[in-house]
Amino acid sequence: LVLILDYGSQYTHLITRRIRSLSVFSLCISGTSPLSAITSLNPRAIILSGGPHSCHHPSAPSFPAEFPEYAVSHGIPVLGICYGLQLIVERLGGKVREGDRREYGRMEVVVDGNETGGIYGGKKVGEREVVWMSHGDEVSKLPDGFEVVGRSVEGAVAAIESREKKWFGLQYHPEVSHSPRGMETLKHFLFDICGISPGWNMEDVMEKEIEVIKSTVGPDDHVICALSGGVDSTVAATLVHKAIGERLHCVFVDNGLLRYKERERVMETFERDLHLPVTCVDATEKFLGELKGVEDPEIKRKIIGKEFINIFDNFAHDLEKKLGTKPTYLVQGTLYPDVIESCPPPGSGRTHSHTIKSHHNVGGLPKDMKLKLIEPLKLLFKDEVRELGKILNVPEGFLKRHPFPGPGLAVRVLGDVTKNNALEILRQVDEIFIQSIKDAGLYDSIWQAFAVFLPVRSVGVQGDQRTHSHVVALRAVTSQDGMTADWYHFEHKFLDDVARKICNNVRGVNRVVQDITSKPPSTIEWE
Ligand code: XMP
Repeated sequence: LVLILDYGSQYTHLITRRIRSLSVFSLCISGTSPLSAITSLNPRAIILSGGPHSCHHPSAPSFPAEFPEYAVSHGIPVLGICYGLQLIVERLGGKVREGDRREYGRMEVVVDGNETGGIYGGKKVGEREVVWMSHGDEVSKLPDGFEVVGRSVEGAVAAIESREKKWFGLQYHPEVSHSPRGMETLKHFLFDICGISPGWNMEDVMEKEIEVIKSTVGPDDHVICALSGGVDSTVAATLVHKAIGERLHCVFVDNGLLRYKERERVMETFERDLHLPVTCVDATEKFLGELKGVEDPEIKRKIIGKEFINIFDNFAHDLEKKLGTKPTYLVQGTLYPDVIESCPPPGSGRTHSHTIKSHHNVGGLPKDMKLKLIEPLKLLFKDEVRELGKILNVPEGFLKRHPFPGPGLAVRVLGDVTKNNALEILRQVDEIFIQSIKDAGLYDSIWQAFAVFLPVRSVGVQGDQRTHSHVVALRAVTSQDGMTADWYHFEHKFLDDVARKICNNVRGVNRVVQDITSKPPSTIEWE
């Protein structure tokens, strides 16, 4: 295990992912964690991440006082990156001062130290490499036993080491793609200096998780899971099912806000491809009844969240009657970024996940919930979950589905969802748009694509007649994580074909517009 102590850099996740991409398991915990949290993980190597702070500041986050002795006495190599390097210098008796110059962006570093061993082992003195810098403070005095092994072309300290202690520091970010030889240095650190052998893979993760689930869930325990049709809950349920079989009970809710034939398509995958035991609850009337006349998007979300919980409660109740025992566990498809972000280091500028989640789920869990949680994906990133899904035989098309919001089409019909046959019209428009994207081979290059029903009518002329029909908007964006997004630039011919197909095939629509705003300033969804 390679442990990353997080001091709030925007690249911390990236370090974790990069190391995992080398088939080495890595985990990241808050950089201010107590020593017991570090020792309990028994790391083979420790990386101190970058961060936005100045290490002189009285509230600058740091490792615990006993950490250096622990690492040195156990022979655990430590690599500090950017703020991590500065922390090493300050805490081990050197000095960091506010730099005369700031070094941001692309920069050249000159190797200036040992050619054998050390962080630049194998490189020649005088060799140059392009790196990505991002710092204001700089090292002015090294701690005892350390030496400079790399400098920026402007002369600032860029790499330090104490080979005896096995402590190393890089002032730049080797993990970003703008440091083209950075991965070489990380590999050298892990494989040559730390002596780690790569071997972490998804098959092992799957086997281990199955063992954990088997040993956690007792032989008479029953487990429930709400399947949304999304990748995370599906992969989590499939994994649990593999571990405990028929003692897993899933529920899928048709709330009347799903896409074209979504219920049939998703249920088919669950039952035919994954053999998951799923109860499908048709709650269309209940949801649409509650939503009638409601225009405010946040109230719509609250109503939907509340209804989901009611249905879930009833499901658990019915199950208890049927089984003669209460279900004990609940499966959740929580992912690693949610876990990391639920305890961000001070000053990192990252939002507490609860704030994000209150907007982005469908109502949360009941406060008095007695069920214990099983979160088998909580150490994985999204692309790793997809890989795991593949091993579990979840169909590829399913794993690559675009994200779909919990409140479904309710946030894509602006205003009252029950008026103007809006949901039906939207389903047809959306299906034409998505199918055209798939036919053009563009689906996998787009983060999310969908149609929006606008609460306005416009004048048109269709078949020699004037019409006064609805306007729909098309939205397609590219994104890494949904936090920021850019609108997707379709070819004009594609847009022309789609608009024509929509107006020719969907009754009640005579105008198609495209959303060409990025996030920010817009959000991805319209409500
Ligand atoms: P926004 O619209 O905030 O969306 O830019 C970012 C991502 O989150 C999804 N989204 C939601 N997901 N419940 C969800 O489960 C919601 O209420 C919700 N609102 C937005 C959106 O589809 C995009 O992927």
